[in-house]
Order: sequence, then C-alpha cells, then structure tokens
Amino acid sequence: MSTIIDVRALSKRYGSFHAIDDVSFTVGDGEIFGILGPNGAGKTTTVECLQGLRHADGGELRVLGMDPQRQAAALRRRIGSQLQESALPDRIKVWEALDLFASLVPGGPPWSETLETWGLADKRNAVFGSLSGGQQQRLFIALALVNGPELVFLDEMTTGLDPMARRGTWELIRQIRAQGTTVVLVTHFMDEAEYLCDRIAVIDDRRVVALDTPDGLIDRHSAEALVTFSTDSADLEFLERIEEVRMVEVSGRRVSVTGQGALLAKVAAALVARGIEPLDLQVKRSTLEDVFLTITGGEE
Ligand SMILES: Nc1ncnc2c1ncn2[C@@H]1O[C@H](COP(=O)(O)OP(=O)(O)OP(=O)(O)O)[C@@H](O)[C@H]1O
Ligand SMILES: [Mg+2]
Repeated sequence: MSTIIDVRALSKRYGSFHAIDDVSFTVGDGEIFGILGPNGAGKTTTVECLQGLRHADGGELRVLGMDPQRQAAALRRRIGSQLQESALPDRIKVWEALDLFASLVPGGPPWSETLETWGLADKRNAVFGSLSGGQQQRLFIALALVNGPELVFLDEMTTGLDPMARRGTWELIRQIRAQGTTVVLVTHFMDEAEYLCDRIAVIDDRRVVALDTPDGLIDRHSAEALVTFSTDSADLEFLERIEEVRMVEVSGRRVSVTGQGALLAKVAAALVARGIEPLDLQVKRSTLEDVFLTITGGEE
C-alpha cells in the first residue's frame, strides 16, 4: 500500500498559542483513516494544514506526493473537502451549488448522480437557507465528492444527521472507498470510528498519543475485562487463585469476575474442570469509547 499522506512533526501556532506541536502519522492509499480527540485538540487544524488551507509553522507534509503549502491549488483539484465550519449563501439553490463546485474542480461524475446518491434529488431547486441541518450537512458531503477526489477529508461528517441518515452515510463512505478514494475522517462518534476506520490516530495534548486499528487500540489500552455467569455453586474460591483474576463478586446466582489477560479462557477452563458449565458465560471488553476516555485522560 503506497503512502498518500505523510505528516512529520507538524506544528501550528495561532499567535503565541500552540494548537499542535508534534503531529506525525501516515495514511495509506485506500484507507479510511480516523482522527479522534477532545474538543480543541487540534484535529481541524491538522486536516486544514494537510489541505493547504492553513500554513504550518513547522514539520514536513506530503499529500498525494505534493507539498500542501506550495502546491495548494494543484492539490485542491485532486482532493475533496468537507469542512467543519462550512457555509453557503442562503439564496443559492442546491443544484447551483453543485454546478458551481463541479465547474471549479472538473473531472468528477455528473453532479446529478451525486445529488441522487446523497438523497437530495427532491431538494434540487431548494435554496440552501431552507434546508434542514441534516440536509445541509449532506449537501456539504456531496460537494466534497463532486470532483471525484482521490482523497477526501471529512470533518465531523455526520454531526446533525438522524440515525438513519448516519448509517446511510457510513455505507456511502464505504462505497466511496471501494471505488478507490482514500478517506480521512475527523469524528467524535466512537461507533462511527469503530465501524468505518481501518486505523485511528488519537490527538491530545497537541500530538498523536495513540495510533492503531480500532481493535488494536482496544486490546492495547483496555485495562480490564469482566467475565459474568450464573451458577448455583457456592464454592467459587478457586476462581480467586487464577493469576489473571483480580476480583470475584457474587450477588445471588450472579458472579462477576474482573481481571486481565486471557480472563475468559482461564475462568472457563477452571469452571469446566469443576463441572460448572454456565450457559450464560460472557466477557465484556472495553469499548472504543472506554479506551478513548482512558487515553485522553477523561476518567482521571
Ligand atoms: N483561527 C484560530 N485562531 C486562534 N486559535 C484557534 C484558531 N483556530 C483554532 N484555534 C485554537 O486551536 C486549538 C485547536 O483547534 P481545532 O479547531 O484544531 O480543534 P479540534 O480538535 O478540531 O476541536 P473540535 O473537536 O472542537 O472541532 C483550539 O484551542 C482552538 O481554540
Ligand atoms: Mg474540529
């Protein structure tokens, strides 16, 4: 997989304020790459620098083999961009906006198709100011894709979308990737990141503090697992002697075992060895949200 984005030690100041200090990561061709982080962490700043919309103060940036600072115009023709703070004139019609964007960056599919794909065909003649928040958001995504980009940046793409539209958008993002577009996705939705992203960078404290697949992040950063089951057996002391087990709690028939490592396998083996075979034996892993809160210090 060739590298499409290579960021090394990116830094950006606003006046004397250091928004980001040392952001480094690479994105491969065809990836859906997620950027997570608390409000104000520098996610938008990072993706705006990558699109040549802001001048970095330091670091090395390559996007599609180009320098976003010096070759911004050439880069803009090959990328799609859905900005967190987008705006259009209230009076512009949906079709006019698409037509305008398509003429600025030609080479994409006919915009009428894009209109259809994003469920806006019946709003074709509506003015921007009359669209609902979710419809405006969908229009911005459609505009980001109107030039058939090789790489698209989506900054909080599904904010304001209803659950159905959100799911629909996820499927469309997968289709876009299947057609060969690389996707950089800034999001606060953990389910979205887990469902869509091949890899995720967590930005906090002005730099990348974790970078892995969603499963890799969960495995590496989840502190403990919880195994639960029901039993009539009263003698469960043997569970406490398992090395991976930290705590056993019993409430009526319900048993909760907290611990680390291969907890489920060890607990299951010990139970079976004593003839206890609960039908409801389960393990609860940390979610990406638990891990995100741990990484970014939200639980401290
Ligand atoms: N134009 C600007 N002038 C001054 N400070 C700015 C400017 N833009 C961003 N900042 C500051 O830089 C920091 C990073 O902002 P940025 O918008 O990149 O964060 P973010 O991670 O995208 O946050 P959010 O999740 O809220 O969108 C914040 O502290 C913000 O206040
Ligand atoms: Mg932002």
